Amino acid sequence: MTSPAPRRILVTSALPYANGPLHLGHIIETIQTDIWVRAQKLFGHDCRYLCADDTHGTPIMLKAQQEGITPEQLIERIAESHRADFADFLIGFDVFHSTHSEENRRMSAEMFQRLDAAGLISRKTIQQAYDPEKQMFLPDRFIKGECPKCGAADQYGDNCEKCGATYSPTELKNPRSVLSGATPVERDSEHYFFNLPAMESALKDWLDDDRVQPAIRAKLQEWFDSGLQAWDISRDAPYFGFEIPGAPGKFFYVWLDAPIGYIGAFLKLAESAGLNFEDYWGKDSKTELYHFIGKDIAYFHTLFWPAMLMGAGLRTPTAIFAHGFLTLNGEKMSKSRGTFIQARTFLNHLNPEALRYYFAAKLGSSIEDIDLSLDDFRLRVNADLVGKVVNIASRCAGFIHKQFDSQLASQLSDPHLHQQLCAGAERIRQRYEARETAQAMREIMALADLTNQYIDEHKPWALAKSADTLAAVQGICTDGLNAFRILMTYLSPVLPGMSQAAADFLNLPALRWDAIDTPLVGRAIAPYQPLITRIEQSATDALLAAAAEEAAAMMPTPPPAATPTNPIDPIAPQIDIEAFSAVDLRVAQIVAAEQVEGAAKLLRLVLDIGEDKPRQVFAGIKSAYDPASLVGRLTVMVANLKPRQMKFGLSEGMVLAAGGDGGLYILSPDEGARPGMRVK
Ligand code: MSP
Ligand code: ZN
Repeated sequence: MTSPAPRRILVTSALPYANGPLHLGHIIETIQTDIWVRAQKLFGHDCRYLCADDTHGTPIMLKAQQEGITPEQLIERIAESHRADFADFLIGFDVFHSTHSEENRRMSAEMFQRLDAAGLISRKTIQQAYDPEKQMFLPDRFIKGECPKCGAADQYGDNCEKCGATYSPTELKNPRSVLSGATPVERDSEHYFFNLPAMESALKDWLDDDRVQPAIRAKLQEWFDSGLQAWDISRDAPYFGFEIPGAPGKFFYVWLDAPIGYIGAFLKLAESAGLNFEDYWGKDSKTELYHFIGKDIAYFHTLFWPAMLMGAGLRTPTAIFAHGFLTLNGEKMSKSRGTFIQARTFLNHLNPEALRYYFAAKLGSSIEDIDLSLDDFRLRVNADLVGKVVNIASRCAGFIHKQFDSQLASQLSDPHLHQQLCAGAERIRQRYEARETAQAMREIMALADLTNQYIDEHKPWALAKSADTLAAVQGICTDGLNAFRILMTYLSPVLPGMSQAAADFLNLPALRWDAIDTPLVGRAIAPYQPLITRIEQSATDALLAAAAEEAAAMMPTPPPAATPTNPIDPIAPQIDIEAFSAVDLRVAQIVAAEQVEGAAKLLRLVLDIGEDKPRQVFAGIKSAYDPASLVGRLTVMVANLKPRQMKFGLSEGMVLAAGGDGGLYILSPDEGARPGMRVK
């Protein structure tokens, strides 16, 4: 197999924040990157894959405080969990470092000094919200108040979730610090700014080449049109990060040292691998540099980062590869809906290579969102990997072991099949190169179909029954196993573990791209073990249930309300009319009611509230009602209560009942009320 001349390539995935465990959104990005990197390595290129934890900033500092540990302890613990998760998803980093490292501290200081020397850093005093109790400046997200546009309560300092308005935290009505509840005051502080507008024309020149995808280019055009702004790169103490050289009490904003963390990770790798800085980062570097990122951080990677590199006299990225967001069963992953899947939770229930394959089968070069539909996932993996690819090996291995003492035939019996499989190599290589992995998977599965047809047509199981035709079986199975070898070579960037197991089975040290053409004949194979087993629906169900349970545990518990107490019931705080009208009460008709197996107190109710789909609610009223007596009754339900995933299913609201004397009394509207009516 001829390959193009080797290239020198450096690749990164975005550095995950060290403020929590990895979830499948992080994993899809590293899987996409890892597939690309493994493909480049397979094709014989000198490709290195860097990543690190992004460890600085206010949220990490505060989280450590909450837990009563140092930020260093926190990021150490998180790094361990990130490393373990990535390793178990078979992400083959050449180095996984941390932005809180000496290499990064040194490089951040140097970049800053270079930018300063080039006249690109300015200092300016700005006013900012300050928490007088907590004694720190407050990022927008740490201020809440009433929306200046629509008056909605409890909105963040940057935008309103009710009406979508964006504003600055100083415009909020009745603002308060999320940290202490204190009213923020305005305070002066000197900040450092990077002169991004000065780089505008250099950035436009850089972008004239094929650096970004069309959708990102369109975004960039909008950003240019609305005018670039100087970028605030400093934060005041207390802050977990790197102090700015020569500016005591001032720290680099986390987004300054985060991308420099790519270089920090490189320096770490360079030390052990003997790489030369100039070859990779010098202005005239011939190394290709690619950053894989999610589309949400395109601004940082297509404007700030190349501008910083240019300003500091270093090379710029060859291209930025952005991907879309991962959704689950068609919806945004959300903690409140219980559909937020952590990497570890997935690993506890399912095979990581199955997910690698599924993502490969869905990913392309665009920034469209990617949906993980768990049914589709199960069916796809079962049909393709189990039913098509691995099936070839299991169909052929038995005959070779039983009838031919584990020996492959001394030559292929049908070179045509072999040629067809080899002929796919160049197209598949191009698909991997262009990040069109979904297309690559389709090509590979079409070749697997061909191979299965070949076996079906030649019917080795029939030929094996008679001594006259037995000899042909060895040749047919040797053809099949060679096809399997080629398919697993094609799939090896996606399925590194399975392809190594396939190599072991074929008695090869590894599956090699440059050996695709060379038939494996006249030698023994090792015992066959199934490389992957079917995914059962019970496994994906168990994953969802576990994810829902964890998501519920992760939901922040609201801070104790500082609201005035209610004179009638001192435990229940007084609320205003807005808070009350936020509760959507509806007349509901109970259309079904039943016992819940394993639940001591619950009944499962199905409620009609005039919507297309009835609601399911688990109500703790088993002690008071015979379910049959409830069917047909009208009651009142809270219709906008956040759905809650329970062990028994999703509970989509709550019915109102009075209690207190040990009994329970469901509320009912007067006659005439109809399902769906609002209760005010
Ligand atoms: N720390 C920054 C990146 C700094 S790079 C110098 C950051 N971290 S993150 O943990 O929030 O996200 C890491 C990567 O995961 C980003 O590329 C982000 O787009 C990606 N994803 C996070 N959630 C995602 C999905 N639900 N789907 C796909 N990718 C998503 O941003
Ligand atoms: Zn609003």
